[in-house]
This record gives sequence, structure tokens and C-alpha cells, in this order.
Amino acid sequence: MEPSLINLPKHLDERGNLSFIEEDSHLPFEIQRIYWIYDVPGGEVRGGHAFKKNEELIVALSGSFDVVLHDGEKEYIFHLNRSYNGVYIPKMIWRSLKNFSTNSLALVAASEKFDEGDYIRNFEQFKG
Ligand code: TYD
Repeated sequence: MEPSLINLPKHLDERGNLSFIEEDSHLPFEIQRIYWIYDVPGGEVRGGHAFKKNEELIVALSGSFDVVLHDGEKEYIFHLNRSYNGVYIPKMIWRSLKNFSTNSLALVAASEKFDEGDYIRNFEQFKG
């Protein structure tokens, strides 16, 4: 599968909007872990690695940032600035998150529990 932008459901309401994720409807994996990235200082870059097995969905719950992906041949750039969009990242995709706006909040749903052994942190090794 390729990295892709997933349009999540949105219920627009004068009281405020609501979006949600359901495993079988919106994701091609079962969620084993949720984590979030916040208080990112201006100019900082997160990521800089790939996962051997882990798949993820990244949502900009607040603010905006870029998800820059590489499959070894091709680069993909997704600008996230809506709470109802997510980027699906299959396994074995190099990723970086950059250009965070002030007060950005990145929510990540992951297919695997945290395992340092699942990381590939060297781009040359990743490209093989
Ligand atoms: P890392 O994945 O390198 O952050 P990012 O990809 O966003 O730059 O993780 C940073 C640190 O947090 C690292 O020491 C591992 C730890 N960590 C956990 O303990 N559990 C987790 O679920 C995640 C994502 C990271």
C-alpha cells in the first residue's frame, strides 16, 4: 500500500465539530497504541526513521505541520492542517514531521506497541 490522505468523518455543528476514527472503517490496521506529539519548539523536526512492521495514522488535531515520507524511491509530502484528515503510513516508509505551527498537536494511531527494535534510524540502511 502507498501512503495516503484519509478523509475522516466530520460532524459540523454550531456547538463545535466532531470527528472520529473507527478501526475497520477508516484504518487498514488494528490500533495497539496511541501517542501524541506536542509543545514542539519552532523549527524542530520529529521522526527521521522508518518502522519495519509498525503502520500509523497521523492526524493534526490542532495546528499544522508537514509529513514528509520516502519509500526509498519516491518522496511524498502531506501538509496537515485539518482535524478531519489523517495520513496513513504503511510499514517501511521513512518519515519526518516538520514545519510545526505554534501549539500543534499530532495524534498518532499505531498498529504495534512501542518497540525500539522496530525502528530503522539510518536512511542508507533503510534504502538498502
Ligand atoms: P521517537 O519515536 O524517536 O520520536 P519521533 O519519531 O516523534 O521523533 O521517540 C522519542 C522517544 O520516546 C524515544 O526515546 C522512544 C520514546 N517512545 C516511547 O517510549 N513510546 C512510544 O510510543 C513512542 C512513540 C516513543
